[in-house]
Amino acid sequence: MSERVKKRVEQLRQEIDRHIHLYHSEDDPEISDEEYDRLFAELQRLEAEHPELLAEDSPTRRVGAPPKEAFAPVEHAVPMLSLASVRTAEELLAWEKRVRGRLEKADADPGEITWVTEPKIDGLAISLTYEKGRFVRGATRGDGRVGEDVTRNIETIAELPKRIEGAPPLIEVRGEVYLPIPDFVELNRRRTEQGLPAFANPRNSAAGSIRQIDPAAAAKRPLAIWSYGIGVTDGFEFGTHSEEVAWLADHGFRTNPDTATHSTIKEVLERCQWWLDRRDELEFEIDGVVIKVDRLGLWKELGVAGREPRWSVAWKFPPTTATTRLKEVVWNVGRTGHMVPFAMLEPVRVGGVTVSTATLHNEEDLERKDVRAGDEVVVMRAGDVIPQVVSALPQKRPEGSVRPRPPEKCPACGTAIVKPEDSVFSICPNRTGCPGQIFQHVKHFVSRGAMDIEGLGEKQAMRFLEIGLIEDVADIYSLRAGQLEELDRMGSTSSANLIAEIDRSRDVPFPRVLFALGLPGVGAVTAEALAEEFGDIDALHSADPERIEQTEGVGPIMARQINESLAEDRTWRIVERLREAGLNMALSEEDRRPEDGPLTGKTVVLTGSLPDLTRDEAAGMVRRAGGKVTGSVSKKTDFVIAGESAGSKLEKAEKLGVTVLNRDGFDRLLAGRLDAETADPAWRLSR
Ligand code: IVH
Repeated sequence: MSERVKKRVEQLRQEIDRHIHLYHSEDDPEISDEEYDRLFAELQRLEAEHPELLAEDSPTRRVGAPPKEAFAPVEHAVPMLSLASVRTAEELLAWEKRVRGRLEKADADPGEITWVTEPKIDGLAISLTYEKGRFVRGATRGDGRVGEDVTRNIETIAELPKRIEGAPPLIEVRGEVYLPIPDFVELNRRRTEQGLPAFANPRNSAAGSIRQIDPAAAAKRPLAIWSYGIGVTDGFEFGTHSEEVAWLADHGFRTNPDTATHSTIKEVLERCQWWLDRRDELEFEIDGVVIKVDRLGLWKELGVAGREPRWSVAWKFPPTTATTRLKEVVWNVGRTGHMVPFAMLEPVRVGGVTVSTATLHNEEDLERKDVRAGDEVVVMRAGDVIPQVVSALPQKRPEGSVRPRPPEKCPACGTAIVKPEDSVFSICPNRTGCPGQIFQHVKHFVSRGAMDIEGLGEKQAMRFLEIGLIEDVADIYSLRAGQLEELDRMGSTSSANLIAEIDRSRDVPFPRVLFALGLPGVGAVTAEALAEEFGDIDALHSADPERIEQTEGVGPIMARQINESLAEDRTWRIVERLREAGLNMALSEEDRRPEDGPLTGKTVVLTGSLPDLTRDEAAGMVRRAGGKVTGSVSKKTDFVIAGESAGSKLEKAEKLGVTVLNRDGFDRLLAGRLDAETADPAWRLSR
């Protein structure tokens, strides 16, 4: 055996270990799954050809990464396995043949084999243990044998059953934790808004969220779980995998409704294509289809090979990440004047389409990722998310490359770019006249979370601005059907439809109008908080930065920017014109906080889930009673309303001696029959 092979094996082991660490522990992979698989396959092949090189600590002998130390280790009674993957019909048929061959050899009677297909959700594998029907522990996969105890974080997932009726003394449910794509997009938007690094993909954001040291932080991430199997059971026998899934569904677990059974592999193949076709429409990321033999008796016969069960295989989709060369970083101007970098790429197939441009988010993110022209970069495209550059592969960097710098002049209007002292962003200061900023603002204004004007998309907005039909967002409300009909490709029906859409948008509630205004840093959540804090636009307009800063989620810099921006003539003129056009510039009477309600002047924190109310409903009830809902418990909190599986907020309230009420107590509070001083302990939460 040559030294060269030995060296290569060593090198591969180190490389793979590093990528495993990046993927599992840092949630920040550097290479695509496909590239990783290639490295792994090369190592497997070399080890097979040179058995004398096999080592116990080779990555081919392990699953995943050893657990992080911040969480207590949990040993899995039944190991959490990995899956072999196939990518072609031939490979799948070969797998079927192996399954049948093995069963024959074992003299097992396969009868008619039934196959089950389920989506392979790209999240984080989780083990959920229930003792006597109560949820007692949530654990990550870790290295397959020992995982991390993430019970406190899992408890914050509202949809997870905390108690199950008719359960055996012990049952361990297995599933996948994930962040729905829309929430992932919103989370990243908020993070970039706050100057935090964006997550590369939903999987990493879910993994990052479940490993938040602070459960309260995890609770802010709308995580979800699909359950797909059962690990340990005590005194319970299932005959088939589909029975397990049906049992889970019957007992309150979310199982995928499109789980199906098939009697032939041809049907299985068709089903894989069916999933691939739907991939982009799904609310969650899938990276393939899991195929399982249905009868559990056959699982025992087939057994496990190394780290992979022989009774299951993953049909892997083409990856949503790929590597390509970044030709150039170009700059655009954003809604609030920020210079926005994006990447011009050598065209590459990713997630089923060819991609040649991708977003680099913002100046700070670019700086952090250190992506340069000429670099090999990892590009990701998932669902309808804009393609993004995840990272560069600096080991392949051409010599003499330099970090890209923002331009000196605005690419849209030519004004000299400035970088305020307290900001990490370069901006075009031409707030009033930069056509690039105006376009971005119109685009934001009509978008779904804002005024939601369907039929006035990006292209249309660009065209209207170019021909001078509109000059700013307020002009949208003076458009007439007659003007639109004269345009190319705008028949009378589509003109009438657009006008009707615009009219409908006049009823959009104030918080969304405030969001649509596009004040610096004000995302949908902050707009909601500001609307609640001030009630109408005039109160916000006349508030000084210190007053604005009292709003939840608003820091001193953002407060100053909001104040300055609203004080600008141009902004305020637009506000006035939008008001004249009939837009809501105040919370409706119903949503307003009365000045003499039973909760006037009181601050309330909601935690856990109430049996009959959503969070929004409960918050609305507090507001209509005159109270204010805040997100975190402090000495200033008057009441904490605690529902099912309340977490750290409840603990903090108890520590600070804040009155904690249950659902009944909440009703009394709203009816004005209870206050902090005379709180009857009977209505306090009994735990
Ligand atoms: S079955 C022992 N079913 O894929 C078989 N796994 O590569 C593994 N996954 O760690 C569990 N969706 O995190 C199974 N419907 C599904 C799945 C699924 C996603 C993940 C799981 C596992 C990995 C295996």
